[in-house]
This record gives sequence, C-alpha cells and structure tokens, in this order.
Amino acid sequence: MRTNIFMLLLLALMPHALMSLKQRDLETVYQWRQLVFGFPTENDRRLALANGNLVPGNAVPIDVAPHRKSRVFVTIPRFQTGIPYSLALVSDQRDVNGPILQPYPSYEWNNAHGTDCDKITSAFRVAITACNQMFVIDSGNIGGYQHCPPQLLVFDLNTDTLIQRYRFDSDLYLSDGSLFITPIVVVQDPPPKGSCQRLHVYIADVNNHGLVIYDSKLNTAWRVENKFMYPDPDHGTHTIAGDTFTLMDGIFGLATDGRQLYFHPLASLSEYAVPLSVLNNRTNFLNGVAVREDQFRLVGRRSSQCAAQAMDSYKNLYCVTFNPITLTRWSSTKPYDVKHENRMSADPHLLEFVSGMKVFRGSSGKEELWMMSNRYQKVATGTLSDGEINYRVVRRVLDDVQHPPSTHQDLSSGLIFT
Ligand SMILES: *[C@@H]1O[C@H](CO)[C@@H](O)[C@H](O)[C@H]1NC(C)=O
Repeated sequence: MRTNIFMLLLLALMPHALMSLKQRDLETVYQWRQLVFGFPTENDRRLALANGNLVPGNAVPIDVAPHRKSRVFVTIPRFQTGIPYSLALVSDQRDVNGPILQPYPSYEWNNAHGTDCDKITSAFRVAITACNQMFVIDSGNIGGYQHCPPQLLVFDLNTDTLIQRYRFDSDLYLSDGSLFITPIVVVQDPPPKGSCQRLHVYIADVNNHGLVIYDSKLNTAWRVENKFMYPDPDHGTHTIAGDTFTLMDGIFGLATDGRQLYFHPLASLSEYAVPLSVLNNRTNFLNGVAVREDQFRLVGRRSSQCAAQAMDSYKNLYCVTFNPITLTRWSSTKPYDVKHENRMSADPHLLEFVSGMKVFRGSSGKEELWMMSNRYQKVATGTLSDGEINYRVVRRVLDDVQHPPSTHQDLSSGLIFT
C-alpha cells in the first residue's frame, strides 16, 4: 500500500520516467551502396556521362536535412569532378543501389560545374530555419580549386525559389585555401510573432581555421579567428571501424543554444564555446580577426574525436565519436568530461563517419536526431567497395533522453521518499 502511493506520486511528478524505461533505437531512413543520380531526361544523363560529370563512385554525401512536407535534402560536395549535382532531394523511386536523387532546385542550377558563379558550384551543408527557409553554403570549390567565391544561398521552401544571395568578399576567405562547410542559423525574430528579417549565420572555414558571421540586417559578413579553431596534431590521426587515416581538419562541428556558439575542430578532443553576443558585434572585429581571446573558452574534452554535432531544445549536445563509435549526449547542466559523456543506444554499424547531423521536430511533435553516415574512413583509405552499404541516413527520436533539467534533477537528488 505504502509503495503504491509512492509509485503513484513518483509517476505523477515524473511522467517522463515512464518514457525513459524504453530506449529509442536508430532507424535507417535511406541507404545506398553508391549514390544514384536521377536526371530530367535520359539525354541529360548520357551527356553527363560523356562529359565526365557523372562518375557515381566519386560521390560522397555529406549532409542531410529533413523538411516538413516529408522532403529530405542531401548534399554531395564536389570534392572531385564527376558529381552531376551537389544539392539534391531524395525521391521515392528506387534503384538497386538505393533511392534515386533528384537535383534541387533544378538540374540547371547545379549543372555549371564552376563555369557560372550564379549557379551552385559545390553545396557543402545546409540549414533549414523555422521560417521555412533553407540556407545553403556553397564553397565555390571543386576538387580544391576555387572556381567561384563562396556564397550563401537562401531558398524559400514554400516556393522553392532563391530569395537571397550573399557572395563573400575576397578578404573573408583564402582562394584555394579556405573551405566553407557548415552554416548554423540563429533567427532573432522567428514566427509566429516575428517576420524572419533578423538573423545571423555562422560558417566554419575548416581549412583556413576561421569563422565567418553573416548579419542579415547589415547584409554584411565578417571574419573571426581564434587558436581553438586550429587542428591539434596529437589528434589528427583517426581510427573508425578499424580503418586509420590522418585528417587535419580545423573548426568543423558547430551548434548553438541561442546564447553560445559551441564548436570543435575535427582533429581535436576539445569542445569550445564563445558567446554569440561577442561574435555578433561587428565592432569587435573591425581592427583584427583574432581578438577578444578572453571570450573563447574550453568547455571540456571528449573520449575520442567526432565530426558533425547538433543541439536539441533541451541543450543536449550530440556527436558520434570515432573510436569506439558511440552516439554521445552531453547535457549542458553537467560538466563536459568523459565521465558525463552519455552513451546512447545506437547500433555502431549504422553510424560510421557522421558528417551531417540535424535536430528536427517531426510530424509527431517530437524532436528527432537525423544523421548522415558516410564511411569516410573507407574513402580516405581507398577501401570503399560498392558491394556494401556505404551511405546511410538514420534518425532517432529523442524523447527518451530529454528530461527537463530542473524538475528531473531536483527530484532524483532529493530522494525524499526513502
Ligand atoms: C560592441 O563592441 C564594442 C567594442 O568592442 C563595444 O564598445 C560595444 O559596447 C559593443 N556593443 C554592444 C551592443 O555590445
């Protein structure tokens, strides 16, 4: 009797305790042995093959972004030639190697291969906002050669038309040396009240170790550098699922809780942070890019390197470590160290090199973690085989790990019933 009352009390106070009994699993949404490119016409496909613009073995997907309306965007940056388009939607049609991609917003937009800088040269990653807009970072670079200045493109996803373009000035990047890879967008006036006019975009320059901030109100951008954006040679060699390779990438994964920008270089075990208010104040950086050093801080160190990261509305930071492969969650209310690195249930065979990660509120209203896993370790070591599944889009509902920090902790630490 006593126990029953306590149980009822506990359940009434902690409804999420019921949910946490069941751990969520990863779900494979799409998988490919090799990417399959659809074309508007069979003649377009023949031409692409003849011109060397379709070499399916060269294509490695990097990012994934789900959109309401059940659409899923994928990016395939042009690390090499032979990529017919770098921004795609996954269609419902299937080939033996996996679902067929279709170019977005059109083949025309993607088919210039660096000869027309008004088109998309190499879409790297994307960010979709609450305003139903998609921000695309186009590196302008094909196979290490800077064909066009990097640019930020904004598409209205209601109409699938371009609504804004911002070309970065030459003082914001190093031609052939910079690589703009990750846009993170913070909207200051989101719907339903706001009109989506004021926003900032934070873009990682992975090769030239910097961050570029775009301000929509000023319609301008500036550059920020800091020692924490550099790779650490002690952590520049990586092992994923038994394959070892060296990749000295600098600032790579970005995430934000709306107050801080969290970031880490790929070749590093450390997570760093800087207040958005410091980055957003252009005056700070008028006389130099590597200033306000005191505002950058080490948040903590993880057990192993990781690539893309994302943060949910509960300020949980997610990343997939390389060795061992583990989907980790760090709660911002706990110290960031190996001891507080929560290991989430996730099949390591489905998550190898996770290069794209998004938190998306699905149709059920629950937040989901979406990931692009691409076995980059096999690309780097030249051991990719098109007889195996190499690319996966996976998702995981997050409700089993999302506890309101305050109520949950107060109750569990109080233990007033025992
Ligand atoms: C922006 O930075 C400048 C100089 O670093 C400072 O004087 C100014 O107060 C800051 N503005 C805001 C709004 O914080």
